[in-house]
Amino acid sequence: MQDDPAIQIIDLHKSFGDAHVLRGVTLTARPGDVVAVIGGSGSGKSTMLRCINLLEQPSSGSIAIRGEEYRMRPGDGGLVPADPRQVQRIRAQLGMVFQNFNLWQHRTVLGNVTEVPVHVLGLPRAQAEARARAALERVGMADKADAWPAHLSGGQQQRAAIARVLAVDPLAMLLDEPTSALDPELVGEVLAVIRDLAAERRTMILVTHEMRFARDVASHVVYLRDGRIEEQGPPEQIFGDPRSPHLRQFLGNAA
Ligand SMILES: Nc1ncnc2c1ncn2[C@@H]1O[C@H](COP(=O)(O)OP(=O)(O)O)[C@@H](O)[C@H]1O
Ligand SMILES: [Mg+2]
Repeated sequence: MQDDPAIQIIDLHKSFGDAHVLRGVTLTARPGDVVAVIGGSGSGKSTMLRCINLLEQPSSGSIAIRGEEYRMRPGDGGLVPADPRQVQRIRAQLGMVFQNFNLWQHRTVLGNVTEVPVHVLGLPRAQAEARARAALERVGMADKADAWPAHLSGGQQQRAAIARVLAVDPLAMLLDEPTSALDPELVGEVLAVIRDLAAERRTMILVTHEMRFARDVASHVVYLRDGRIEEQGPPEQIFGDPRSPHLRQFLGNAA
């Protein structure tokens, strides 16, 4: 439904063996929200993001994308999808951007970006390519369409990876520390692209260590600690008047 949250997570738990990594996370992203997720290393940020598109399977709890809840059933050591086609359909609406770009090295930039609308949306190649070119234009990479990933800087590769997501016009984007693998001088060009997308009010959940950036672009900030949301709120509150002593310490160290 139109009015449903883009992403709704309720009481999400995830264990890896004996490690209880997510301990009851409840989070809502409404259309247009830019949710920044911050927290120390190992607090469960990536695991939470990966559960949203079922790259990790939750141990318990529910996840709904635009009001449609993943149907899960008990399986090996946790929950498994009851209907793989449903997962495929929901996943097609979520674009994931990884720390390490994950471009296909044996395809050109244009090939990388075209592949997704062809396979995920089933578009004819010509139409997919037109979308891909528009997406590359959007991230300032039109002139690199024929380049090979290995010949690009990290910043260019990450912008291509963002274009690949934009080419399917996703309901929401999931970005996992998109700038943390980049040399410092390349961070800005990627943040500029994300900033533009946030200004367009594209729904996103953004895991980041760039605190100043999170403060600028986020509509909502979530501080994850030991698999729980310890504090959340608007950026002015989280960065300007944090309540939790752990968050205060975390921000102090990050500054
Ligand atoms: N596939 C996995 N198998 C076992 N443990 C994992 C796996 N993925 C993550 N973990 C553990 O879960 C915890 C949270 O990891 P992660 O979600 O990557 O944290 P963050 O992204 O906040 O740094 C860490 O202790 C990590 O070692
Ligand atoms: Mg991580």
